[in-house]
Amino acid sequence: MVNEPVHGPGGPPPGPLPVPAEFRPAAEALFADRPDLAAEYAGLLATDGVVRGLIGPREAPRLWDRHLLNCAAVVELIPHGAAVVDVGSGAGLPGIVLAIARPDLTVTLVEPLARRVSFLTEAVTALGLDGSVTVVRARAEECQERPPADVVTARAVAPLDRLGRWCLPLAAVGGRLLALKGASAVNEVAEHREALTRLGGGDPIVRRCGVGLIDPPATVVEIVRERVVASGRSKAPRAGRSGSTSDSRRARRR
Ligand SMILES: C[S@@+](CC[C@H](N)C(=O)[O-])C[C@H]1O[C@@H](n2cnc3c(N)ncnc32)[C@H](O)[C@@H]1O
Repeated sequence: MVNEPVHGPGGPPPGPLPVPAEFRPAAEALFADRPDLAAEYAGLLATDGVVRGLIGPREAPRLWDRHLLNCAAVVELIPHGAAVVDVGSGAGLPGIVLAIARPDLTVTLVEPLARRVSFLTEAVTALGLDGSVTVVRARAEECQERPPADVVTARAVAPLDRLGRWCLPLAAVGGRLLALKGASAVNEVAEHREALTRLGGGDPIVRRCGVGLIDPPATVVEIVRERVVASGRSKAPRAGRSGSTSDSRRARRR
């Protein structure tokens, strides 16, 4: 149920993008009682998301399998009631997907680019997710004073060493970074294992999520934040503090 129109000038009006029949069992398993809300979000991505240049036009036909279901599969790694920070949300992947699939989560979407933040803010309202999702315009490095998260997610944002530097400080000790990676996961882990340990992370584990539901399963690198590392040992955070979208003026323009 879309509460208000969010389409840009000249763009097609949003409406649900129904899940293709072949993906219906996975959508019903992963989105529990909210596959219709997921279809509304898919519709926003396919219309506004494309018009505003947040989603490539060639991605539109594969939104369900490549994007929504792939992101939703990660819910099996997230504990009930967790506070989740999604770094570099872009158009809401995976943060909005997680919030739809799991109403028990509180989700903060961290995104520095104004145009993406506008889309995220409008989509959150249109999908009726305001109660569980907050949009923050900032870089991850500017968020280190925010309340620690149980889970930090990131998809297609940066290599693992940089993600560790940006994201591990946002997690509580004992919390975890879930980095959604593709085929590069195993090589990235081998390359960046030592850097991640220096940043306070435990041994990275490559997980396959959605086995038996999606093909291929989603590949996720899980890194527990084991300890706090003195700030001198990782790159210093950028100046400035993050805020809600209402104080986005303080965030840097890119
Ligand atoms: C390739 S896009 C991926 C977007 C989305 N996660 C997805 O999978 O479609 C990378 C995103 O990371 C954001 N980003 C880049 N540097 C960042 C930083 N330091 N902190 C937070 N987000 C950042 C960019 O603005 C962009 O939206």
